[in-house]
Amino acid sequence: MSSEGKFKPKMIGIICNWCCYGGADLCGVSRFQYPAYIRLVRVMCSGRVDLKHIFLAFSNGADAMFVGGCHINDCHYNPEGNYDALSMVNLCKKLLEHVGINPKRLRLEWVSAGEGIRFANIMNEFGREIEELGPLGKSEGIDPSELKSRLESVGKLIPYFKLTKMKELALHDSDQEMYTRLYTSEEVDRLIREAPSYYIDPEKCQACTTCAGKCPVEAIISAKRQVHIIDQEKCIRCGTCYEACPPKFRAVTKIIGEPVPPPLPEDQRTIVGKGKEGGVA
Ligand code: FES
Repeated sequence: MSSEGKFKPKMIGIICNWCCYGGADLCGVSRFQYPAYIRLVRVMCSGRVDLKHIFLAFSNGADAMFVGGCHINDCHYNPEGNYDALSMVNLCKKLLEHVGINPKRLRLEWVSAGEGIRFANIMNEFGREIEELGPLGKSEGIDPSELKSRLESVGKLIPYFKLTKMKELALHDSDQEMYTRLYTSEEVDRLIREAPSYYIDPEKCQACTTCAGKCPVEAIISAKRQVHIIDQEKCIRCGTCYEACPPKFRAVTKIIGEPVPPPLPEDQRTIVGKGKEGGVA
């Protein structure tokens, strides 16, 4: 194949300012070559990289993602962010697997500011690997639009993964090998299967605003004497509204494995009367 016809992957590297970026800089100054199609984004610490960034990049057509940080115990922040990156990347690999994406398309490495040659070697090796895999979805045998829709639907659950795996995501353990066993495919499949949604029953809601006042992400649309509704796009599935709804109303329902009923149109949300007799107009 001529070099013009050769597949050039879209690859993004998110690298920390203090070490990996220094390594990339030294690589450039030393004139070590690596593929120009790998675009680098500098962040202050690898711990800043979020599941959301990776999902967004893949949804927008990236063929591979690289995360680079300081070597373990060399992170410039306290607590050390590279442990967070390690845990996040391992969880992300399992989520990508669930979506059907080859987890090899996501790679995490530690590179110090003095390791220009190591940076070049990793980029060259990773680039070759992705060139062999081909465009995102090709080696996976998944149509790009199907892949995008899968990424978006699992991507919407990111706040829920972060809540349910909060302890694991904040783990700082020098046994790096342990992180590869921290999440299993079965567990991730179960988490996704059992992801709850919350719905406010218009027949029971008394517009007391208790749930709206407690929702940590302001996902509840509430107004005086109006049935409250949950903005499903904003909801992080924490269940705060479910716990907060006064037991005498029990208006918030937890739904698992079924679609959430559509919200009442605004002109039908007015509550007539109060208390037990209250009903929707
Ligand atoms: Fe480099 Fe935290 S500053 S990983």
